[in-house]
Amino acid sequence: MLENYSLKMPRIIHAGENALEKLETIINENVSKITIFTSEGLINLGLVENSIQIIKKLGIDYTTITGIPPEPNYKDVQSAIDTFKKENSDFIIAIGGGSIMDVAKLASILNTDAYTVKDLLDDPLLAEKQVSSLMIPTTAGTGAEATPNAIVGVPEKELKIGIVNDLMIADYVILDGRMTQNLPKDIAAATGVDALCHAIECYTSKKANSISNMFALEALDLIFNNIIESCTERESLKAKRNMLLGAFYGGVAITASGTTAVHALSYPLGGKYHIAHGVSNALLLTPVMRFNEPYIKELLVNVYDRIEKNNEKSNDEKSSYIINKLEKIVEELQIPTSLKQYQITESDIDGLVAAGMEVTRLLVNNKRVVKPEDARKIYLEII
Ligand SMILES: NC(=O)c1ccc[n+]([C@@H]2O[C@H](COP(=O)([O-])OP(=O)(O)OC[C@H]3O[C@@H](n4cnc5c(N)ncnc54)[C@H](O)[C@@H]3O)[C@@H](O)[C@H]2O)c1
Ligand SMILES: [Zn+2]
Repeated sequence: MLENYSLKMPRIIHAGENALEKLETIINENVSKITIFTSEGLINLGLVENSIQIIKKLGIDYTTITGIPPEPNYKDVQSAIDTFKKENSDFIIAIGGGSIMDVAKLASILNTDAYTVKDLLDDPLLAEKQVSSLMIPTTAGTGAEATPNAIVGVPEKELKIGIVNDLMIADYVILDGRMTQNLPKDIAAATGVDALCHAIECYTSKKANSISNMFALEALDLIFNNIIESCTERESLKAKRNMLLGAFYGGVAITASGTTAVHALSYPLGGKYHIAHGVSNALLLTPVMRFNEPYIKELLVNVYDRIEKNNEKSNDEKSSYIINKLEKIVEELQIPTSLKQYQITESDIDGLVAAGMEVTRLLVNNKRVVKPEDARKIYLEII
C-alpha cells in the first residue's frame, strides 16, 4: 500500500431518490448561460427534459451540444469544444455516459484559444479551469463523474489515451437512478462490468491505499450484489441506484488509486478495433485476474469476506470464488468473451501486444509485472 496518498473529489454530490430535483439548488444567480453536453438519443429518451424545465423555470439561458460520437477521438472532441467556445457559457452540464462526460470535462478547461485537446495529449497540465461543471451520468458506469481523467481516441496511434488533470474534476455530481432506467441491457452490462473492473483493479493496484480501499470495497459490495438485477430487471430502480453509486465509488477509487493491466491491455482493443470500453475490459477481466492471482490472493480474500457471509472456505477457495464470480457475471450478462467476433485473429496479436505495452501509465500499477510474453498469453486466451 502507498504510504502517501490523497484524494480530490467533486465538491457536492446529490444521490438517491429524485436527486435530479437538486439541480435547482446548484444553479444559482451567478450563472448566466449553461451549455448542456448530451446526445440526440438521450434527448429523445426524455433524459434531458427535466433539467431543461428546471433551467427554464430559473430563467437562465441555455444551449445544447450534441453530435458527439461514442468514445470520441481528439478531433471529435475539439470540434465539440470549438462550438462550445462560441457560446460564452459560464456553466457546463453533462448528461450522458463517459463519452459525453469526458468531452464536457475537457471543455471545462478548454474554453480558450491558448491550447487544444491535442496539446493536452502532450502536456495535460497546460490547462486551467475555466468553467464550473455538473456531471449527470446516464450509464453506471465509467465513474467519469468523479475522476480527473478524460479518455480520447488517437487514431494515428490506434490507441486511446487518458488526459489526466485534477482541474477537470467536476464541481457537482447528480446520481439519479432514473437516468439509467432505460439503458439497453447490452450497454448496462458492459458499462456495469467497467465499473466492476475499476473497483477490483483499484483495490488490487500498487497504488491502493486506505482512502481508495474504502471506496473500492464499497463499490465491489454494491456492484457484485446489484449488477445482474440492475441489468436484467427494468423496474429495479433500487438496484440501478446502487449501481450508479457503486460506479461513482469506482471513479473515486480510480482518482485515489489507479486501474491496472485490465484497462492497460484493453486500450488497444478500443483504440484500434473500436470495441466498446466496457466490453474490452470484460473480455480481459478474468484472464488478467487469473494472471495476477498469486500476487493478489489476500486481497481477493478480503473482497470475499466483504461480499459473502459464509466463512467456511479456505483462503484459496475464497480467492478462486471471486475470480469465478467475475467470469460468471460476464457470461450471465452475455458480454462477448472472444475477439473472434471482431475478426481479430492470431495475426493481430503482435500489434496488440506492442500497443498494450505502451500503456505504462496503468501497467506500472499492476502488482505482477506484465512482460510482453505475458500480454501475448493473455490476448491469446481471448482469441
Ligand atoms: N474519464 C474516466 O475516468 C473514464 C473512465 C472509464 C471510461 N471512460 C471512457 O468513457 C467512454 C465510455 O463511456 P460509457 O461506457 O459510459 O458509454 P458511452 O458514453 O460511450 O455510451 C454508450 C452508448 O450508450 C448510450 N447511452 C448512454 N446512456 C444511455 C441511457 N441512459 N439510455 C440509453 N442509451 C444510453 C450512448 O448514447 C451510447 O450510444 C469511453 O471513451 C471510455 O474510455 C472514461
Ligand atoms: Zn473503465
